[in-house]
Amino acid sequence: MTLERLEEARRAFLSDLEQAGGDAGAVEEVRIRYAGRRSGMLQELTAVLKTLPNEEKRDYGRELNDLKKLIEEKLKEASGGASAGTAGRRRAAIDVTLPGRRPRRGAQHPVHLVRRRIEAIFLSMGYSVEDGPEIEDDWHNFEALNIPPDHPARDDQDTFYFTDGHVLRTHTSPVQARVMERQQPPIRIIVPGRVYRRDSDLRHSPMFHQIEGLLVDEGITFGHLKATLETFLHQLFVGVDIRFRPSYFPFTEPSAEVDISCIFCNGSGCGVCSRSGWIEILGSGMVDPRVFERVGVDPERYTGFAFGLGIDRVAMLLYGIPDLRLMFSGDQRLTRQFA
Ligand code: PHE
Repeated sequence: MTLERLEEARRAFLSDLEQAGGDAGAVEEVRIRYAGRRSGMLQELTAVLKTLPNEEKRDYGRELNDLKKLIEEKLKEASGGASAGTAGRRRAAIDVTLPGRRPRRGAQHPVHLVRRRIEAIFLSMGYSVEDGPEIEDDWHNFEALNIPPDHPARDDQDTFYFTDGHVLRTHTSPVQARVMERQQPPIRIIVPGRVYRRDSDLRHSPMFHQIEGLLVDEGITFGHLKATLETFLHQLFVGVDIRFRPSYFPFTEPSAEVDISCIFCNGSGCGVCSRSGWIEILGSGMVDPRVFERVGVDPERYTGFAFGLGIDRVAMLLYGIPDLRLMFSGDQRLTRQFA
């Protein structure tokens, strides 16, 4: 009697499945009707087991098990080999026509971009790129560059001191001294790097970047300095006017600061150039013979020129970045724009 119910269920299942005819939705309905966990037919038939007298339980149990296996197998076949469980249904729900998530492209930092541009210009003129320590000794940062202990230039530079007398280099010029100490002319180098001063506002950050340049050989004149810097600046800022202003640095004599006509107002005067029409862009000069003496280069035989410029300042001008500190804040809203 009870075994007949199992047989009936088996026949009903097979015919329902056949009617579904491989249609995924219809097969799913059959699955719910027979194998559904809450109120499927199999669940009902399993509940019957408990109500049976002991002597019938064994046969019924065996037949029920066979039916379960059959239903599982047939359902599996009908849904194309995929498991009829939740995983299979989830897989079927993936819409492969939806657009994917685009990975965000990285970008190079504006300071890096400008440094590479400046390097490319000087590499094309035969310069090589040198490097030096950011933690510097007093000799290379000051003494060798003709800045004695009581020199007012030390105050200008708002130096960060270590307790042992070392400093965070205040400019890239100490690398001039280091290279000349270990190498005789001809020398033709640029030195990009980080420098440090105790200063922080719209245009100053305690850490910023400079590029130093140094050329030493026999017969080098101020004319070479002027031609080199003009060639360089005309490539970096196309179409600007350039002027040289007399200035003072302890390690160069004579010295000049170099201005370009304001690239925002074309020289007519605006907020960026403080209404002057000019923007100061670098410091330069002929290497002071006293520096040559200190680092072991013969000042009777050799002359040379040096210059230094702020990379960050150039990046602000070229890309119109209003606050220097913005560039070192790690804010991706800035850097993303350079992708
Ligand atoms: N070291 C100078 C500065 O930081 C710049 C400079 C470099 C001037 C080389 C002359 C020659 O202001």
